[in-house]
Amino acid sequence: MDLEFAVNGERFKVDSIDPSTTVLDFLRFNTPFKSVKLGCGEGGCGACLVVLSRYDPELDQVKECSINSCLTLLCSVNGCSITTSEGLGNKKKGFHPIHKRFAGFHASQCGFCTPGMCISLYSALSNSSKEFTVSEAEKSVSGNLCRCTGYRPIVDACKSFASDVDIEDLGFNSFWKKGESKEVMLKNLPPYNPKEHLVTFPEFLKKKKKKKKLHNGLDHSRYRWTTPCSVAELHNITQAANSLGSLKLVVGNTGTGYYQDEERFDRYIDISQIPEMSMIKKGEEGIEIGAAVTISNAIDALKKEESKSCYIFKKMAAHMEKIGNHAIRNSGSIGGNLVMAQSRKFPSDITTLLLAVDASVYMLNGGKKAEKVKVHEFLELPSMLDSKRVLLKVEIPLCTATTSTTSVDDDTELLFESYRAAPRSIGNALPYLNAAFFALVSRRQEPSRRGVTVDKCFLAFGSYGCDHSIRATEVESFLTGKSLSYSVLYEAVGLLKGIIVPGKDTPHHEYRKSLAVGYLFEFFNPLIESGHYSNSHVNDTAKSLLPFLSSSQQVLESNEYQPVGEAVIKVGAALQASGEAVFVDDIPTLPNCLHGAFVYSTECLAKIKSIRFREKNVTPSGVFALLTSKDIPKQGQNIGSKTVFGTGPLFADELTQFAGQRIALVVADTQKHADSAAKLAVVEYDTKNIEEEAILTVEDAVKRCSFFEVHPMIYPEPVGDVLKGMEEAERKIISAELRLGSQYFFYMEPQTALALPDEDDCVKVYSSSQAPEYVHSVIATCLGIQEHNVRVITRRVGGGFGGKAVKSMPVATACALGAYKLQRPVKMYMNRRTDMIMAGGRHPMKITYDVGFRSDGKVTALEFIMLIDAGLEPDISAVMPRNIMGPLRKYDWGALSFDIKVCKTNCPTRTAMRAPGEVQGSYIAESIIENVATSLQMDVDTVRKINLHSYVSLRKFYTRISGDPDEYTLPLLWDKLEISSKFKERAEMVKEFNVCNVWRKRGISRVPIVHQVLQRPTPGKVSILSDGSVVVEVGGIELGQGLWTKVQQMVAYGLGMVKCQGSDKLLERIRVVQSDTLGMIQGGFTAGSTTSECSCEAVRLCCVILVGRLKPTMDKMMMEKPGSVTWTMLIQQAYGQSINLSASTLYTPEYASMEYLNYGVGVSEVEVDLVTGKTEILRSDIIYDCGKSLNPAVDLGQIEGAFVQGIGFFMMEEYTTDEKGLVVQQGTWDYKIPTVDTISKHFNVEIVNSGHHKDRVLSSKASGEPPMLMAASVHCATRSAIREARKQSLSWNCNDGNIDESGTDFELPVPATMPVVKSLCGLYNVERYLQGKILG
Ligand SMILES: Cc1cc2nc3c(=O)[nH]c(=O)nc-3n(C[C@H](O)[C@H](O)[C@H](O)COP(=O)(O)OP(=O)(O)OC[C@H]3O[C@@H](n4cnc5c(N)ncnc54)[C@H](O)[C@@H]3O)c2cc1C
Ligand code: FES
Ligand code: FES
Repeated sequence: MDLEFAVNGERFKVDSIDPSTTVLDFLRFNTPFKSVKLGCGEGGCGACLVVLSRYDPELDQVKECSINSCLTLLCSVNGCSITTSEGLGNKKKGFHPIHKRFAGFHASQCGFCTPGMCISLYSALSNSSKEFTVSEAEKSVSGNLCRCTGYRPIVDACKSFASDVDIEDLGFNSFWKKGESKEVMLKNLPPYNPKEHLVTFPEFLKKKKKKKKLHNGLDHSRYRWTTPCSVAELHNITQAANSLGSLKLVVGNTGTGYYQDEERFDRYIDISQIPEMSMIKKGEEGIEIGAAVTISNAIDALKKEESKSCYIFKKMAAHMEKIGNHAIRNSGSIGGNLVMAQSRKFPSDITTLLLAVDASVYMLNGGKKAEKVKVHEFLELPSMLDSKRVLLKVEIPLCTATTSTTSVDDDTELLFESYRAAPRSIGNALPYLNAAFFALVSRRQEPSRRGVTVDKCFLAFGSYGCDHSIRATEVESFLTGKSLSYSVLYEAVGLLKGIIVPGKDTPHHEYRKSLAVGYLFEFFNPLIESGHYSNSHVNDTAKSLLPFLSSSQQVLESNEYQPVGEAVIKVGAALQASGEAVFVDDIPTLPNCLHGAFVYSTECLAKIKSIRFREKNVTPSGVFALLTSKDIPKQGQNIGSKTVFGTGPLFADELTQFAGQRIALVVADTQKHADSAAKLAVVEYDTKNIEEEAILTVEDAVKRCSFFEVHPMIYPEPVGDVLKGMEEAERKIISAELRLGSQYFFYMEPQTALALPDEDDCVKVYSSSQAPEYVHSVIATCLGIQEHNVRVITRRVGGGFGGKAVKSMPVATACALGAYKLQRPVKMYMNRRTDMIMAGGRHPMKITYDVGFRSDGKVTALEFIMLIDAGLEPDISAVMPRNIMGPLRKYDWGALSFDIKVCKTNCPTRTAMRAPGEVQGSYIAESIIENVATSLQMDVDTVRKINLHSYVSLRKFYTRISGDPDEYTLPLLWDKLEISSKFKERAEMVKEFNVCNVWRKRGISRVPIVHQVLQRPTPGKVSILSDGSVVVEVGGIELGQGLWTKVQQMVAYGLGMVKCQGSDKLLERIRVVQSDTLGMIQGGFTAGSTTSECSCEAVRLCCVILVGRLKPTMDKMMMEKPGSVTWTMLIQQAYGQSINLSASTLYTPEYASMEYLNYGVGVSEVEVDLVTGKTEILRSDIIYDCGKSLNPAVDLGQIEGAFVQGIGFFMMEEYTTDEKGLVVQQGTWDYKIPTVDTISKHFNVEIVNSGHHKDRVLSSKASGEPPMLMAASVHCATRSAIREARKQSLSWNCNDGNIDESGTDFELPVPATMPVVKSLCGLYNVERYLQGKILG
């Protein structure tokens, strides 16, 4: 039988294929459909989702679900129908309401995540059995990553489909204006009709399925894919394994997402069609679930269960709903999970749950007869993968049968609970530890025996870095028969700590142990304290706050410069949603295109002796070349990047100088081949004959005086007399230390470029870059050709955040080198792992400071030494001191002096990441203020207020860039937010909450920001075509920040000045086109938050020129035909008269006003769980002065997105290096950006239109980076909650070594991840609490 399926209704027949081909591979390389994006290739991002529809001919039913196309194997979709986002709707046949609503709710910025989001929503909508609810809407996208939007608009777009939504709760959108009636709102929403808008299963496939309904196996010889239809058939295959070659059993193939296996098998055995393995059956003993049953189906079955055990089953289902995301659960099987856990140490949730209910599994163990073993025995068996064993099914017992062990007089109760401490609760994250507990307890009523006795218990723990989940049998035996008391529990905890021993390479050992202890405590303690079981240590009223996300936006549109100031929908938003928007990797390539992958160094300082592939003298399949610095043309230079501060090499020469440095480029026929060959490359190093030792820390750099020079012109100035300020101080904090780590950009589209050789030594390069001008220049220098031989084209970038500025240059240059040398197109789509290793990210730093202050909290002097780790190359690191000092000066420090060193180390080169240095500078200021307040035992907010600048002190600290007094809006914002966020009242409520709750503490914090930005010269060009349509080019790149939309609005406004008929409707006649470095020179960097406004100003100036040229003709025509001159007529006339209708400019901002300050204030309230260290952001309110926003929808998106990226930096994202400086986090498994479940539950944003700013572009101000700084409010609130926890610990008199003498004087590291928070709240707080109770 042939492999046949449908994609978006179209028939696809594949004659033969490598069975390891994924659906994504096929869609992207063999079909015109490009909406499936490769964001990670490991199931962790959701960019590749598609809908899979299966038809059951017997029931005549179609079942649909979302799946990860990057993991699902193509052969497994034989006979199925796949729908991508462009299959739901598209430009030609009309967009789907989902696309339209995503566009109208401003839910797409760069657009790289959007098709996947749309598929997630579609799948949830189509699978919703009853009415689609708000809760389902929120959860539908909980496993998808978006790095741009901050999720709020995405959630609103999803919620707009919910039947129980209050439409007035939906956020800012283009469908209605504030204050319009509900009827109008509903009417304007693009209508959704399930009958019309659900995809249909193609008839041709239905027919086929009906005909061949019993067996749909593929022809083995062509596909090496077998689909047995019975256990007997499977048994025969596994027994013949030796003659068939290597075999792999597969169901969903999601396991490859975790293991990233390279191994290829001779044959794949799809076991999903075997009835015995795909059934769910309820028997006398319990529920049987076939091993090939998907997790989603198992969840549904457990939820539906109505037996006496249904309470347990429902809890198990609820826990399983936290596994991966919808798509993973839809294709991942129960059996696959168990086998991964049993054979490959996968940290499974399912095994932990099954252990706790004493479940069994059935296996084929070589023979034909199934063998039954308990799950705990199964886990101890030799690896399933080393033999011919097959897991057939799981049996979950009906647990109530066990009640017979207890006496009838007693009030017996069956308890079951499961736990999971993960960085994201439902957003696709493996737990630090999971646990599931089953207990049968009896509550004895007689006065002499009153209390709760444990009659039986199963205590399972897993995912803590152990070989597999375990049962804590010693603790179980200890507790069985015991009457629960504090001392019994304390002893049980002691025993447990000896059992939970994470593997030696597992991070956060003590934290994981403390979780086990915490969960055991949480399970049994309520029985001791109240005699009743309660599932939570927080009172219910507090919990009821949390179920849904809510938000509000106050946004002012202005009509002074129409259409500038209007919340116009982002250009191409619907196109992005359908996935038709073209990114570099979507550009169709020629058949002779080659693909590149970097080989990077794993040593920080070593001589490179040789590079070869793993098997000597065997070139891996598909490899064409291995390019190194030796392949750079003689006339060229080994250069891979450049900034005004210097250059960086494309490849390490003889010496590699940091782990992660590029050493070579493998060029192969496909990206897959290039990537695997790069992995197979073996670099031989010589580390012995190196004279110097590597510099891996800033301290080493100081010792060795290894610094980058910072030109005095850009080195910030001190302020005032620090000696005098220190003398005035009544109190001082001396030599306090603070360290900040790095952050990875996590743009959803990895680095990518495509280079095409052209005639006469020319090369054309498509680059996903924020700085094509520099890419261009680097390529020319590297190849040793004149710049006019190079052309770099960038249409759109799938998220940049600074990471696609300098770091995009070597990617494009390497491709250009390959194309130039091999005279064939060369493309590189970096895999996420390599991207993360090479990206460098944000600058880590160390600060040591002295601060002097009065006893009323007023700071009189601040002095510090700062060491910034810049890595090896200059990049833009020399601007860091200036950037850091901008926001750090937001408070009146009295006097300020500093010594900032930019250290050159053998670490990956750091680069600008969104608000580079600014986010750190602002945070450092807060940290100092926090410490001042702690030292004075004053309220932090009061200390902040007292140190806020007056306009006079603002001028002292910011000199000429302070603007006019009325432009200093910070005090106004500070007060305004106090009222709108009810800051004072809530601060009181937080106090009350903290008194009433032992295991949860809250904190609230208000943080001001001052962020300085700089305008740079920016080009623009506006050309009017003969039909009156307008084409615009700008130096700035569309990264998702809405630059094109603002530019389009500005051109409409500018040309509208001609004031002819229809000139007010020009918007849709304007198209901003891709940047082309030969078409428009001097584009510079798209960075620093001001490219949009500068590009707008450049095109406005062009419009002024064009309007000036058109005016005489216009006036003349008006004289002839008053009032009836249309835009088209005018342009036709102008063409007739050969008027030059193309104008270009280079906007050069005035020196005196090119820098300016931006202001905002953020208030956040958080709740910290003292047992797990989890921080929940209950509410954030931010207020931001955007001047007169050029487009409030775009600016709102920037503000929210930046804030959430800030949450990532402050709370979640660890981007660390090992002892050799190699990046530790290498993918979505261990790098956790925020998802829907980790953002602020209530998120209120107000954009203040602060009126006229004479020196700004139509009075507007920047929005891209400054709002990120406000996320420090979340961190500060967390610090405040922890402070409360520590105060409480002190009151228990249980200092545990992690808590210092004063208890409240501590530094909260960034990011404040769960282990960090827990360690500061007290890793042993549970034990101490129990000790305290025992001692009375
Ligand atoms: C992004 C992501 C997030 C995840 N998050 C979680 C999580 O939070 N918690 C959790 O518990 N799990 C998690 N998982 C794991 C997930 O549950 C498993 O990947 C899935 O269940 C495996 O099922 P599968 O059908 O895809 O297995 P496959 O990938 O098809 O197979 C996995 C392995 O098991 C073998 N195998 C499969 N079935 C059998 C059988 N019946 N007999 C013998 N061998 C067999 C295969 O040969 C293969 O070696 C996550 C996975 C991904 C990709
Ligand atoms: S690319 Fe498939 S989930 Fe990320
Ligand atoms: S819009 Fe979601 S990642 Fe850019």
